[in-house]
Amino acid sequence: MKLLAIETSCDETAAAVVEDGQHILASVVSTQAAVHAPYGGVVPELASRHHIENLCPVVTQAMAEAGLDYPQLDAVAVTQGPGLVGSLLVGLQAAKGIALVHGLPLVPVHHIAGHIQAPFLSAGGRIELPTLALVVSGGHTHLYDVPEPGTYRLLGRTRDDAAGEAFDKVAKLLGLGYPGGPVIDRLARGADDRAIDFTVARLKDGSGDFSFSGLKTAVLYHVRKQAIPPATDPANPGRLIRDLVASFQRAVVTALLRRFKQAAQQRRPASLLLTGGVAANSLLRVEAAGMAAELGLPLHVPPIALSTDNAAMIGAAGFVNYRKGIRAGWDLNAAPQWPLEESSQKPS
Ligand code: KG4
Ligand code: ZN
Repeated sequence: MKLLAIETSCDETAAAVVEDGQHILASVVSTQAAVHAPYGGVVPELASRHHIENLCPVVTQAMAEAGLDYPQLDAVAVTQGPGLVGSLLVGLQAAKGIALVHGLPLVPVHHIAGHIQAPFLSAGGRIELPTLALVVSGGHTHLYDVPEPGTYRLLGRTRDDAAGEAFDKVAKLLGLGYPGGPVIDRLARGADDRAIDFTVARLKDGSGDFSFSGLKTAVLYHVRKQAIPPATDPANPGRLIRDLVASFQRAVVTALLRRFKQAAQQRRPASLLLTGGVAANSLLRVEAAGMAAELGLPLHVPPIALSTDNAAMIGAAGFVNYRKGIRAGWDLNAAPQWPLEESSQKPS
């Protein structure tokens, strides 16, 4: 079963061809990071405009790398949401056009279902179920119980900023550029991550949700109090900023894993998944591996190219939906705000 997948929910224009939900025949990602970098964040209109320029070449390249013609496909999967509406519309319209012209079924996919399905691609489909999935990206910090592919039960979520958003905002505050996660990850290496105590407090209501806005504010106060100016040379910002971002990164990782571990001890899943753009973080990967070993559970983390936004993961999640009989009509619209728990659409 060969599926063309399209992902345009944020600032990566991506297309992939995935076979049987497991084998990547081609995966092409065109990033717009350089376009948005001067603004310190994604500018929605620019994102849409770049998607419309880049999507056809990206799809053509993916089909060429897979060595396929459109009639050899079995379906077209596309990210329906959540994400930036203008960006989503570009991908949806392209997917509809291809499906309509070639008489293929159109399969809608939730972006976060894609992130959760990414480790299944790298693990060759062998993931022990039920699994506990921590999805950490620029837009999400969500913890799900996944009893089977395609079924997601929300256990906790961020009340305010997503973990990746906190990385991006702290990097912007310090003049380190966009996206902040990879920059902070690099600058933190070899720096003193105990230099500043940025403890993330647990939420008082005992809900087990995440919160990162307090940490962001603590960084802001520290910067003001110490009168730390933004970096003049973002590639080499000096000891003060490097120790600061290392301490911030340590606090984010500690807060994420504290909750992940607590949920694992309570629910006793058969495995753990760590996925989403922030799962590319080197400290998080190392510390999560240590935690999983301590708990005696297998941990599945996709390689970096499948952790950050890509279309192969949409193909993997599209395959799950396809097998469940989920199809979109030609009136399919973007769903910019769309809780994953509500995404198990009924077969049509
Ligand atoms: O999953 P993703 O590519 O897009 C969304 O769905 O949001 O995640 C992007 C986020 C950005 O906030 C970026 O700063 C963060 O992932 N990120 C990282 C790293 N690489 C990307 N955060 C921490 N460490 C990294 N190495
Ligand atoms: Zn994402």
